[in-house]
Amino acid sequence: MNGSTRVLYGTKNGIARITISRPEKLNALDRQTVQEIDRVVASAGQDPSVGVLIITGAGEKAFVAGADIGELASQTPVEGTAYARAGQAVLDRLERLGKPSIAAINGYALGGGLELAMACTLRVAAESAKLGQPEVALGIIPGYGGTQRLARLVGAGRALEMILTGEPIDAREALRIGLLNRVVPAAELLPAAEALARTILTRGPVALRYALQAVHEGLQTTLNEGLSMEAALFGLCCATEDMREGTRAFVEKRKPAFKGR
Ligand code: COA
Repeated sequence: MNGSTRVLYGTKNGIARITISRPEKLNALDRQTVQEIDRVVASAGQDPSVGVLIITGAGEKAFVAGADIGELASQTPVEGTAYARAGQAVLDRLERLGKPSIAAINGYALGGGLELAMACTLRVAAESAKLGQPEVALGIIPGYGGTQRLARLVGAGRALEMILTGEPIDAREALRIGLLNRVVPAAELLPAAEALARTILTRGPVALRYALQAVHEGLQTTLNEGLSMEAALFGLCCATEDMREGTRAFVEKRKPAFKGR
């Protein structure tokens, strides 16, 4: 534990588990919860024993049912912009952490909940999960990156359908359109997320970091610039001990022992 009251944090076997825990409000993101997420994500980023993050929600009903509507309702225009920017910055830090993160979506992932899940590297959900951007029903638009990351993940057409109708989709449909990586029965959610994490943990940590950087930064630039960055990062990999270990282990028909150097 880390002194947080709305977010539980623990690490085990290379995996940091972050649990948003405000079940009486379906884990809605008020300011304090967002700050606590930021703090534990930073801890996971700085902890050399952590290779992968898993983010989930407490209880069986919700991953996160959105930004806290009570808090939202009182925003002035200036505060609203600052509020969105602050939340975006937290999710941006998660996306750019340099370590893969997996959202284990155990129920409703609405509004800020879906935005949090989309800032994670991968998304695994329980069959019962519902995902949506319902903000227009409140007279607002998504403000924690939903208009941008959803369109990048599933294309503008499907993103706009979700954003303009505000209707949630179920896990199967989310899997079909590429919003989710895997869907499993609820009881298997955390084991499935951990199995995915364990596979990733066997890979070269520096390579993982550069792969994340190449994909995320590449999505924000031209193909030519992206290819050039990819080649530069590929070259950097060639300077690592991990690269030598990985290629040698293949030749020697054994598992590599990566050091992240
Ligand atoms: N912000 C603040 N409180 C929220 C919340 C949110 N985003 N989502 C749920 N809650 C609270 C409810 O107000 C309720 O609190 P109360 O018991 O003090 O009245 C509690 O969580 C349980 O939610 P409730 O609505 O009673 O559960 P339900 O099973 O009937 O409905 C949802 C579940 C998810 C469909 C419904 O809670 C909902 O639509 N939430 C808002 C989703 C949303 O618009 N998110 C985007 C915000 S920008």
